[in-house]
This record gives sequence, C-alpha cells and structure tokens, in this order.
Amino acid sequence: MSSATVVLVSDSHLGRNHAYFQDNWEAFLTEMEILKPDLIIHGGDVSFNGPDVPDDLRYAREQIARLRVPWVAIPGNHDIGEPGNNPRLKQPVTAARLAVWHEVFGADRHVLDVAGWRLVLLNSELLGSGMAEERAQWEMLAEALAGAEGRPLGLILHKPLFQMTPDEAEPNGSCVHPGPRRPVLALAREHGVRFIASGHLHTWRRFDFDGTDFVWAPTTAFITPGRFADAGGIARVGYTVWHFDGDSYSVDYVQPPLFVNFDITNWSSQKGSSISLPPLPHRPR
Ligand SMILES: [Fe+2]
Ligand SMILES: [Fe+2]
Repeated sequence: MSSATVVLVSDSHLGRNHAYFQDNWEAFLTEMEILKPDLIIHGGDVSFNGPDVPDDLRYAREQIARLRVPWVAIPGNHDIGEPGNNPRLKQPVTAARLAVWHEVFGADRHVLDVAGWRLVLLNSELLGSGMAEERAQWEMLAEALAGAEGRPLGLILHKPLFQMTPDEAEPNGSCVHPGPRRPVLALAREHGVRFIASGHLHTWRRFDFDGTDFVWAPTTAFITPGRFADAGGIARVGYTVWHFDGDSYSVDYVQPPLFVNFDITNWSSQKGSSISLPPLPHRPR
C-alpha cells in the first residue's frame, strides 16, 4: 500500500456508568462507517476513570471494537495513571494498573509500518515512571527509529512533549516531564522524525518547532476552554484525518456536525476533575 488514510482520535473518556460523552462517540462511529479509513489510532484516555475502575477500560474496549476497520490504542493518564511524585489526580501509574490495560487492550505501545511510513506509538505515562516497562519502551523506541530503513517516521503519544518550548517546566500534568522529554526529542531529531502527534489537552493545534511538525489531536468527549488557552490552538471537539502518500502526508481537523462541544469548565472549576462527575449510566439506544 503506497497510500493510506489514518484517523487519529483521542480522549473519548468512555464509561459504562459515566456515559456523559457517549453521544459524540456514537457520531464518531457513524462518521467512520462513511469514511472507512485504513486504520484508526486512539491516542489515549479511552476511558472515563480506568485507573480506579477497570470496567471503564473494558467498556471503552467494547466501544472501540464497534469500529469496523482496523484500530489500535495507546493508554493515557485517565486509563493507567501517570508518572511522577505528585500526579494531578493522585493516580500514579503502577504495574497493577498497566496490567489491566494489557489484559483488556493488549500492548501499550506499537511500531506500525503503514503505507511506507513507520509510526511509533508510545505509552507517555511510562516516561519518567522508573518502571521496568519504561526501560523496555526506550529500547523499543531506539530500535524502531534506527531500524526504519529509510521509511519516513512519525511519533504518536498521549501527552504532548511540551506546550510552547522544549525547555519549559512540566506544568501540572499537562505534558511529558522534562527529564524524559529531552531524550525523546534528541532521538526524534537524530532520526529526522517528521511529526510528533499527541492528545491529552483536548485541543486541536498544529505548529512547527525546529522543523518538526507538532500536532495536537482534539477530543471527542469534553472541553475546558481557557485551561490551555495560552498555548494557542482550538479547544473544540473533533478528530483528525491523515493521508499518507509516498513520503508526503496531510492532516485535517474535522468537526463533525453532530459533535456537541461539551464544556465542563463549570464542573472542573467548582468540583475538580471530570472523574468526580456523578454517575450517569449508559442506556443503549
Ligand atoms: Fe483526556
Ligand atoms: Fe489525558
């Protein structure tokens, strides 16, 4: 296959008992029935509260499996927790939480050769965790980039490496910590990685930094406009469509007409995080 259409969707935050964001997912499924991409990549935060509720991961897996095209998913902080001594929601990534992901979704990182490209999908929540799995992922990344045999390269991970500049601090869980950020960027530069795509900030943004194309994939679930307003971008729901053709590619941000922009700013500012929303059971249509 010398060309391919790939959809990068992210941050669906699906839960059987917290089905606030189900409607946009239903609309996304309908859109994919029409588009029929060659591959759909889910960029993480598949689940409402995976770190504490394993059934949310199982439910998210059921929902993603409704796609009738090939798909692959990587975890986010709302799936397996996050690294560091002071995780924002007090949900550290642990071997037990990662084991649930492995049981439900299989691998948490992937090397995909698509239409002559090599796409390396990383588990951003391992970066800086100090877990044995983190060491294995570093080896996988180095080998995948060094062994690309001339294929153009792209990286995809849940959290962005940085918001504005690579030397910034890590502001409250919004991106990868500076420690692991530097070697990822160094490897990317050494091997000429063309783009680095991420989710997590529920914002569409695309910018060039030092010749690398940085893409922030939007969410299907909810927005908190203003939270990352300083970084620019568009805090609205949607998904991205990528066309790979030879060694060129394009990225389009899609805002489906049936996607509703579910703004949880009031909730977040008064009650904290999305995961403290009260139950709202899913009712099958
Ligand atoms: Fe998210
Ligand atoms: Fe996230």
